[in-house]
Amino acid sequence: MIPSICKKSIEKALPNATRFVHSRLMSSSSFDSVGVVGLGLMGHGICQVAAASGKHNTVIAYETEQIFLDKGRSRIEGSIAKLLDREKISSEEADRILGSITYSTDSSDLASVDFLVEAVIENIDLKKELYQHLGTVCKPEAIFASNTSSLSITDMAEISGRPENFVGVHFFNPVQVMKLVEVIRTEHTSSDVFDKTFKWGEDIGKVAVKCGDTPGFIVNRLLVPSLMQAMLMVDRRDATIKDIDLSLQLGAGHPMGPLHLADYIGLDTCYFIVNGWTDNFPDESAFVMPACLKEKIDAGHLGRKTGKGFYEWDGDKRGDSIE
Ligand code: 3HC
Repeated sequence: MIPSICKKSIEKALPNATRFVHSRLMSSSSFDSVGVVGLGLMGHGICQVAAASGKHNTVIAYETEQIFLDKGRSRIEGSIAKLLDREKISSEEADRILGSITYSTDSSDLASVDFLVEAVIENIDLKKELYQHLGTVCKPEAIFASNTSSLSITDMAEISGRPENFVGVHFFNPVQVMKLVEVIRTEHTSSDVFDKTFKWGEDIGKVAVKCGDTPGFIVNRLLVPSLMQAMLMVDRRDATIKDIDLSLQLGAGHPMGPLHLADYIGLDTCYFIVNGWTDNFPDESAFVMPACLKEKIDAGHLGRKTGKGFYEWDGDKRGDSIE
């Protein structure tokens, strides 16, 4: 139990902490149990935020292989340690969050979840295979939600065998900090499923917005082309990486410049998004593949996660730009 004086000071200091604390005092969500499939950069954050909300009796974190499960678990523990360090949560709260997640590599553990969020890599064939499998494992009334950043929700819904119970929930990196979730409906999604999912987004402390199943939804449709424009500037040698980033930070008030952000998101993720778009929508002039992005992918330089991209990285710490 967090003392009320402590609660007040945490709430005053930080809005995120307010959510962690308030969420425990509010009614439970419509979903008793939630499963998160894929514990990478996005999935571990979604899992953590769902657990932190205190709205679910069960939160199951699922990965196909133990090595990925362990990696996701240590990411969650690292993030909780950060929140604890900065006094955004109490040690009791940290223990509660960590203790409320069940980790599993056995998909049958997902059989009874009410709501399942998928956050695996952006490969439509892999996702389709996964949904075919989950469709047979999970109870028929369970809602499936994909955190895809750019793929068609409709395509996945149709393969899942439960198109009316299928939505998109698009979170932003770092999930623990970014306040938005886009909730996406297809022409098949039932109104009840959409409304429950939208409410879930709010229940776990996010601001939810609605969007149709359109490439990139709202944020990525606007954000990713602007990152590509910054990379095209690099291709043309219009300005240095450092100056492009500095300009957007200081001239437009962005928290990170576009090349820094691309490294932070992962150049592979940026590449997957744009590659899919240029293949599927060749006539859309906003969707272009910069040469420097392709070169970095070919060289295995994926940004923060590999220690090199437009910048050098030492873990989460950004170093010099690679001009
Ligand atoms: N877990 C917990 N807390 C975290 C965290 C994590 N994983 N990451 C950061 N934080 C906390 C820090 O502890 C810090 O707390 P404090 O306010 O108490 O000091 C706070 O967040 C800010 O972090 P930092 O001090 O390390 O650094 P910044 O002040 O530069 O903020 C940032 C980092 C929040 C990432 C900020 O730079 C930012 O908003 N950048 C833009 C991010 C963005 O645009 N994300 C969306 C990308 S698009 C996307 O994800 C969609 C996908 O489909 C591609």
